[in-house]
Amino acid sequence: MKNAVILFGSPRKKGNTVELAGAMSAALKEKGWGVRTLYLNDLNIRPCQGCYVCLPDGVCRINDDMKDVRKYIMESDLIVYATPIYWFGPSGQLKLVMDRSIAFMDENFGSRIEGKKAVTLTTFGDEDMDSCRPAIEIFEKTFDLLKVAYAGRVDAPGCQPQGGVKREYIDKTRALAESLA
Ligand SMILES: Cc1cc2nc3c(=O)[nH]c(=O)nc-3n(C[C@H](O)[C@H](O)[C@H](O)COP(=O)(O)O)c2cc1C
Repeated sequence: MKNAVILFGSPRKKGNTVELAGAMSAALKEKGWGVRTLYLNDLNIRPCQGCYVCLPDGVCRINDDMKDVRKYIMESDLIVYATPIYWFGPSGQLKLVMDRSIAFMDENFGSRIEGKKAVTLTTFGDEDMDSCRPAIEIFEKTFDLLKVAYAGRVDAPGCQPQGGVKREYIDKTRALAESLA
């Protein structure tokens, strides 16, 4: 069985991003995948301290919930980064996990998660697709360094706080899930 972990970066469990994350989770489960959703806002994840202690063996000196996030990422074939766009980037909740992901690298810029796949799901208020471009560039460069294959993305514009996500982006998310081997 294949496993996916959803790094859910929105603080709102009944907002827009959860619509995409939920569609991804449901479609993967229908295919027989194991799916675990991590509500990052509920976890205690401290900011990276930039000490590089983690590089030799991948163990961070901070004792917090990132230990569990790391375990679930290691056990997964697919990592789903689901986030609202906050100031053109991923939410702080998700960025904390991304910063702490330095522990997935080694001293020679090798990756401890090489070969896994990643997809991204973003929602944002603007109708202009350009609004998520900086976030997508961050994802692209991050996955490149971590040697993780960027297997697809859904960027949903026009997501107002009370507005919900347009049907086409839910459908795109399901199609993306179905395309994943
Ligand atoms: C702090 C903050 C920053 C935001 N920054 C942007 C932005 O840079 N561009 C944009 O289009 N929408 C922005 N938005 C709107 C959200 O991205 C959008 O409403 C999103 O769908 C919210 O997701 P949620 O319902 O899962 O919380 C921002 C919202 C907040 C609260």
